[in-house]
Amino acid sequence: MSTSGSFTATVFPDASTEGSPEGSSRLPGFYKLGLKDRRTVLELSAGLSRADLTALIAGGLDARTADQMVENAITVYGLPLGLGLNFLVNGRDVLVPMAVEEPSVIAAASNAARMVRAGGGFLAEADDPIMTAQVELLGVPQRAEAVARLEAAAPTLLEEANAVLPRLVARGGGVRGLEVRESGADRLVVHLHVDCRDAMGANIVNTLAEAMAGPLAALSGGYHGLRILTNLCDRRCVRVTARVPVDILAANGFEGAEVAEGIEAASRFAEEDPYRAATHNKGIMNGVDPVVIATGNDWRGVEAGAHAFAARNGSYGPLATWRVSAKELCGDLVMPMAVGTVGGTLRLHPIARAALNLTRARTAQELAMVIASAGLASNLAALRALASEGIQRGHMALHNRSLSFAAPLGGTRSTSDATIEGKA
Ligand code: MEV
Repeated sequence: MSTSGSFTATVFPDASTEGSPEGSSRLPGFYKLGLKDRRTVLELSAGLSRADLTALIAGGLDARTADQMVENAITVYGLPLGLGLNFLVNGRDVLVPMAVEEPSVIAAASNAARMVRAGGGFLAEADDPIMTAQVELLGVPQRAEAVARLEAAAPTLLEEANAVLPRLVARGGGVRGLEVRESGADRLVVHLHVDCRDAMGANIVNTLAEAMAGPLAALSGGYHGLRILTNLCDRRCVRVTARVPVDILAANGFEGAEVAEGIEAASRFAEEDPYRAATHNKGIMNGVDPVVIATGNDWRGVEAGAHAFAARNGSYGPLATWRVSAKELCGDLVMPMAVGTVGGTLRLHPIARAALNLTRARTAQELAMVIASAGLASNLAALRALASEGIQRGHMALHNRSLSFAAPLGGTRSTSDATIEGKA
């Protein structure tokens, strides 16, 4: 299995807007504002269309649209949507929409993004958006010969496969490769690698798998079993790095260098212990999932891909690692990221569309880079807290704040004067 070695860098071309209110993700004191004032700042700084602003402010999804989205709908379930601040990704300021129920996630990511910003921001790159269809072939007599026949027919099969997806091919995507794997005692699996461009690609890939199963089975001399994408899309990885000046990591009586050493030690713990790696990766998904959800993407698919990738070497490991080098703490995250900027939920869900527009990501690859940056920021925030005072003090302050606002079901509450302690 490969992480696909060469990443295709897609650098945001816009210059940083640091220092100017419009387009900047540095919004000091945002957390101290009431909801109404935060929305005014959003209006002034995010460059959103009137329709997107209206959707964000109206909030949620109407029940009629929900009824079009799923079966047996009865109502709509809401989640808070907040802004991850201070993100600089490949030199561009990004306001990061995060839909999440857990207190402290957004504040922690924003705080960590501010530290990464001091070291130049997140540097990210993404593979081409390749998803893989699996066609299972069973009852194949003389497997070695069948593999040779399938491999020899690859050019014709690829042509046939691309003919199934004319619209994707017209958009610059298409089937890029075919691979035959022996899997288990009596199974062959054909992988068809598809460049899905800006779609997440599940429908494209599943359509292809079903269309190609018959011809592939006939060529193999056996019959087909399952025909479906794999969520272990290890050819669609995103990589993000961050460098943080160690001094800035100082926290509550802990020297920056001490905290940096503690973060490296925490990383090594995760590298050596799958029980710790699971929690380490949960801290990464604290940043990843809220952006995936906010932008209307399939977070179950991203989760499945992340954890399968984390176990790709036979034991479960961390998706991100940290090392101290000279006066810097350097973090590196690699994970599959199957997200789209067209189709699916985005067609129907006004908030998902507005949230995507907020990121100003123009391609699925750019969105993947923003999401991975949020993941690395969340990981840094968690490890910094763990390597110093522990997470409970900060977490419980925010948790208690949300409890203090809790009203009995059907009651009312106001968040207009809510503040979050020193987080942005
Ligand atoms: C809690 O939501 C996430 C952490 O457990 C992550 C970690 O331990 O690295 C704090």
